[in-house]
Amino acid sequence: MAATVSVNGRITGERDASISIFDHGFLYGEGVYETLRTYNRRPFLYERHVRRLRQSARMITLDVPFTDEALAAQIGDTMAAADLAGGEAYIRVLLTRGIGELTYDPKATPTPSVVIIVKPQVDPPAEAYRDGVTVAIVDIIRNHPGSVNPMIKSNNLMNSALAMQEALGRGAFEGVMRNYRGELSECTTANLFVVKNGVVMTPPLDSGLLPGITRELVVEIGRDIGVDVRESVLRDADLHGADEAFLTSTTRELVPITSVDDRVVGNGKPGPLTGRLLDAYRRFAHAS
Ligand SMILES: Cc1ncc(COP(=O)(O)O)c(C=O)c1O
Repeated sequence: MAATVSVNGRITGERDASISIFDHGFLYGEGVYETLRTYNRRPFLYERHVRRLRQSARMITLDVPFTDEALAAQIGDTMAAADLAGGEAYIRVLLTRGIGELTYDPKATPTPSVVIIVKPQVDPPAEAYRDGVTVAIVDIIRNHPGSVNPMIKSNNLMNSALAMQEALGRGAFEGVMRNYRGELSECTTANLFVVKNGVVMTPPLDSGLLPGITRELVVEIGRDIGVDVRESVLRDADLHGADEAFLTSTTRELVPITSVDDRVVGNGKPGPLTGRLLDAYRRFAHAS
């Protein structure tokens, strides 16, 4: 894995990186995070990621103990200490409630902990883009917005882990979760898109999902290249009957979905609109 880690500003290799077991991130999963990657060795869409980190922190009433500039400098220092062999970086920033007594009272944890993990970016295998991947619609549902709201990019990932484990057990690359109303929401670590009759659709935020930054950029890129991308409530039948489907995330860009459980999507090959959006996305990212 060869990760380099900054724990509250102390940069070490992965073996020496440690945090107190009394950190409430460990004890209670109380924290938020961001996953970024670089293109041309620079964190891609940095401002959007920091904005979402601040929004996640606000939603759990957690103070963010750094400025955007200070965090960028800390990420830069961690990257400089990392062995990236000239390649691109995967960057994970975690912010937890901090160290304190065994109580949910936030007064016990006056100082948040900040962890930055940097390691080489590993792209999905080329076959995933060439042939597409299989997803499974899993039984675990996405968190109810009145519980741990999916808008929060939370370190508390038990629900997502169980959903992904169900998908992996069924031989799938990703799991698609429904919300409590039975609508499709998103994948366990990615957003979901389907294409039908030339229209690209993704569930609205009201379906209970993370406002993905790749999702947001795909909507903008679609507008730029003349592809109709819109939000629409989706159900199982929309995915099963789609002409094309794909998932999006920072580290995986757009990955075509060519089967859902045992059913083939469209003609079983990555579709043309998925390809156009992926090409345009990559052009934008590499030019950034
Ligand atoms: C639940 C979930 N949805 C969507 C995404 C994709 O978000 P982004 O495009 O900002 O990476 C992620 C990324 O980790 C995720 O965990």
